[in-house]
Amino acid sequence: MEQTKFLLEESQLPRRWYNIRADMPNPPQPVLHPGTGQPVGPDDLAPLFPMELILQEVSEEPEVAIPDEVLEIYRLWRPTPLYRARRLEQAAGTRSRIFYKYEGVSPPGSHKPNTAVAQAFYNQREGRTRLATETGAGQWGSALAFACQLLGLECKVYMVRISYDQKPFRRSLIQAWGATIVPSPSEDTESGRAMLAESPDSPGSLGMAISEAVEDAAGREDTAYSLGSVLNHVLLHQTVIGQEALAQMELAGAFPDVVVGCVGGGSNFAGLAFPFLREKISGRDIDVLACEPSACPTLTRGLFAYDFGDTSKLTPLVAMHTLGHDFVPQPIHAGGLRYHGVAPLISQLVRDGLIRADAYAQNDIFASAVLFARSEGIIPAPESAHAIHGALESARAADEAGEERTILFNLSGHGHFDMAAYDNYFAGKLVDVALDEEEIQRALRAIEGLPVPA
Ligand SMILES: Cc1ncc(COP(=O)(O)O)c(C=O)c1O
Repeated sequence: MEQTKFLLEESQLPRRWYNIRADMPNPPQPVLHPGTGQPVGPDDLAPLFPMELILQEVSEEPEVAIPDEVLEIYRLWRPTPLYRARRLEQAAGTRSRIFYKYEGVSPPGSHKPNTAVAQAFYNQREGRTRLATETGAGQWGSALAFACQLLGLECKVYMVRISYDQKPFRRSLIQAWGATIVPSPSEDTESGRAMLAESPDSPGSLGMAISEAVEDAAGREDTAYSLGSVLNHVLLHQTVIGQEALAQMELAGAFPDVVVGCVGGGSNFAGLAFPFLREKISGRDIDVLACEPSACPTLTRGLFAYDFGDTSKLTPLVAMHTLGHDFVPQPIHAGGLRYHGVAPLISQLVRDGLIRADAYAQNDIFASAVLFARSEGIIPAPESAHAIHGALESARAADEAGEERTILFNLSGHGHFDMAAYDNYFAGKLVDVALDEEEIQRALRAIEGLPVPA
């Protein structure tokens, strides 16, 4: 009998997060204060984040110890399983071996609690009693609501309007874990009210919701801001995924030629890929593939530039691939991938040729999601289905080249709350958004005049 699942004991949970900054050939560009154009210091960030997270954000240490209190909560669902996707291989008719790491076994159903729990913990330890955040698909909002509930913090979630309407049950989940939730743009903040005045029917965007959450946190002593992706410390917390996967691939007697993940802000991709990139930087040959929607092609068609992380220009300036801070992606069903920017660490690694990126249309994504559901059984989140599609494309390319590759991808979450999207796909109602170059150039005008990366 050939083995399907590769499992670790709780005692094998990683004790440290891996910080790729220590190994990068070129460090990321400094984060700049938009007023002065000078690098921001820890004090500039203190109104928004606890000091421990700020120190992690700028840390150059290769590893950071995971606090026992965080490990204890991780044990509710970690280590997560790694599967050999034999049935998918058969269904796709490939000679390559496909493995996936499944993060959908966490209570909220995705990788997001890996950082939500850590962030709630440090905030609680430093005396904050309330967190404000944004959510796209609702995965992050539910993960933070879950973490705040376990650690005794209040939580306010600004949920992108289109997802708020499309995913009523993610909303219920957030409420079940005791958080307060409003659609964004909302009437609760100045930036929300300004956005509604300009565009009363706005579907919202992550950039807009970030503006609201940052404004909420900056205006209250008891409240910190919490971001579910993009920032260095968020990517750091997700590296438990790749560290476990390294050990599990060893159990399977294999090592990947290709590592694949979907990219919204970049956290699940980094979580799986960074520990493998450490191997690549020290000489192993691995193709590391980031998958994004063609409706929001940040890495494949965006510019590497300084830009704001949000629409209302409240955040510091970060050097990253961007489509411009006021770019509003079409309301595609992978809500968690509708972000104009991407993690600076990932951008720098793409620039240095260590990561490559590809973009896919949503009908192709759903075709791969359904093939996966009908062979492996798990209904994938539409975001995660981008990684499935990337893995299948890699397998197809290997078959065409007459090669057998070992492919590992991150299945970042399940799609149990995304069934309306599947219904639309089955009804033939999903539209593939073709973004023309003019539209991208128009959106990129928003960054004219901002500092230019070195
Ligand atoms: C299941 C799932 N995968 C991926 C993402 C994309 O985020 P990130 O790029 O930070 O992993 C999201 C975001 O909401 C998500 O819910």
